[in-house]
Amino acid sequence: MENKLSVIGAGHVGASLAQYLAEDELGDVMLVDIVEGLAEGKALDLTEAAPIRGYNTTVRGSSNFATIEGSSVVAVTAGFARKPGMTREDLLNTNAKIIGDVTDNIMKYAPGAFIIIVSNPLDIMTCHAFKKSGLPKNQVFGQAGVLDSIRFRTFIALELGVSFADIQAMVLGGHGDTMVPLPRYTTVSGVGLEELLPKEKIDALVDRTRNGGGEIVKLLKTGSAYYAPAAATASMIKAVVKDEKKMLAASTYLEGEYGIRDLCIGVPVILGSGGLEQVVELTLKEDEIEMLQHSARTYREFLAIIGY
Ligand code: LAC
Repeated sequence: MENKLSVIGAGHVGASLAQYLAEDELGDVMLVDIVEGLAEGKALDLTEAAPIRGYNTTVRGSSNFATIEGSSVVAVTAGFARKPGMTREDLLNTNAKIIGDVTDNIMKYAPGAFIIIVSNPLDIMTCHAFKKSGLPKNQVFGQAGVLDSIRFRTFIALELGVSFADIQAMVLGGHGDTMVPLPRYTTVSGVGLEELLPKEKIDALVDRTRNGGGEIVKLLKTGSAYYAPAAATASMIKAVVKDEKKMLAASTYLEGEYGIRDLCIGVPVILGSGGLEQVVELTLKEDEIEMLQHSARTYREFLAIIGY
């Protein structure tokens, strides 16, 4: 296939992502994990599912980073996931070390690739990879807004009893408790959400979205979500590979947009063959911009902990 898509980390998110990429035939898939045999085993397993699932994708696995050479996209899912009682930020120091090493390896073997960070704490790891790589901002960005938006869409569809596909939503801010779902920009087949649900119901759905990751962690007990995070990441990779010019929320390095600078946070962007081609600046209301800037302020403190 034309594109080579690498996935770093063969845990639940990485393996689910490899599966979706293979099923969608978006490119040859290279799954990499430092644990000997893990990526190779999962890649072989996925290949053996191909005859019945009907895809012709080449899926390979390795513990050797050199195998990512020639990738057009590298998605980074490596690192530890949350356990019950942990915030995403509790993973800060352990995952910063892992993401630092992974970034060095990407720069060594696939410096031309678009890098999509999926590891938590998402916005901080995205900033870390962006700064450590020295790459332009269109080339390094983070998945989170898509996941938070699809959770919001799911909860709205379930509440209203309508098709998931009918809901359009935008969730900005950091991928954590301070995320900023925007009901004002949320529609059901073009009809504003505020017309269809009372404020208390919308507030409850916003709340459930903010705690969407935690809800899954609590149920699973031994780890965090992976199907929806992987699906969100696959849709971002598709937008790049197919040059879809898709508008969605992603974590990107801001340089004054929304009054925020020198950190990564979720805002609306356009994704296409040039990677993160544009930051879209919405005219937010005062309370919305304040929530976004509050979210940014909390990340400033976390960035300082890892030396930025
Ligand atoms: C979540 C984790 C993966 O939101 O951040 O489920």
